[in-house]
Amino acid sequence: MSDLKGRHFLSMLDFSSDEIAKVLKTAAKVKKDPKKYRDELEGKTLAMIFQKPSLRTRVSFETGMTQLGGHAIYLAPTDISLGKRETTEDISLVLSRYVDIIMARVFGHDIVVDLAKHAGVPVINGLSDYEHPCQILADFQTIIERKYKLEGLNFCYIGDGNNVAHSLMFGAARVGMNAVILTPSGYEPDANVLKESSEIAATNGATITVSNDIEASANADVLYTDVWASMGQESEADSRKSVFEKYRIDADTMKRAKPDAIILHCLPAHYGDEIDYETSRLPNSAIFDQAENRMHAQKALMVELLK
Ligand code: CP
Ligand code: NVA
Repeated sequence: MSDLKGRHFLSMLDFSSDEIAKVLKTAAKVKKDPKKYRDELEGKTLAMIFQKPSLRTRVSFETGMTQLGGHAIYLAPTDISLGKRETTEDISLVLSRYVDIIMARVFGHDIVVDLAKHAGVPVINGLSDYEHPCQILADFQTIIERKYKLEGLNFCYIGDGNNVAHSLMFGAARVGMNAVILTPSGYEPDANVLKESSEIAATNGATITVSNDIEASANADVLYTDVWASMGQESEADSRKSVFEKYRIDADTMKRAKPDAIILHCLPAHYGDEIDYETSRLPNSAIFDQAENRMHAQKALMVELLK
């Protein structure tokens, strides 16, 4: 029996460093030999609740479940109207009578916490306003493929101190990767995330720092960016452009960077804003491996939570 069987995955902090390593090891095996896993979740059903749009999360979970011999049900924002048509508690209790596992993409993080509190089956956070842990499993798988390790690497995130940044900070802390988060003043990550991730990182010989100085990206082995305005912040997109102008991955960033620094972006990308198209297509860019790895990492996650 897996140590992870029956657990929820709402935050990168839900798993220890050994548990993260275990999922990543399974992810590498699933990617290398998908046929070996084709009946692994036979007869199992995944419910996928979405309050927000998605390409990667929806398709990678649904395809992944099919490839494991199971079945996925897509519940669009208007299908169940989370929190409006009935309570999150009732939705969780009812879904747990039908399906084996739930993935939810939500606005407030409290919604996935509430789903998990009442669920009789594992709940996976498919992105909340606070965290995006599934993304980080795929990111770590991609970094290992290019750099053969995580511990001791220098990681630099450039952009908004958002959900992806939070999960990267927690994940980096767990695996002992040094992380620098570069944001404009006023857009830093949550202070509690910085405090907690710094404390955990220190026990693993790593540091997590936040800076407004773009020169701090120079020593990075991994450069990462995400959209300047996340889902739900669309009305701020225009006003953020001038504030974030310097906080992008472009030719200037690459001039300052180590020659072998890899480029990551969780996608969707807004070319010309947080990354330019030419830089995103450099040989150092692993953004499409990263997107592909969403599926392998999540297949591994579901296998570990259900077997
Ligand atoms: N990276 C990511 O989660 O993509 P989607 O929003 O398309 O699912
Ligand atoms: N920070 C982005 C990530 C999208 C995958 C958002 O929440 O919209």
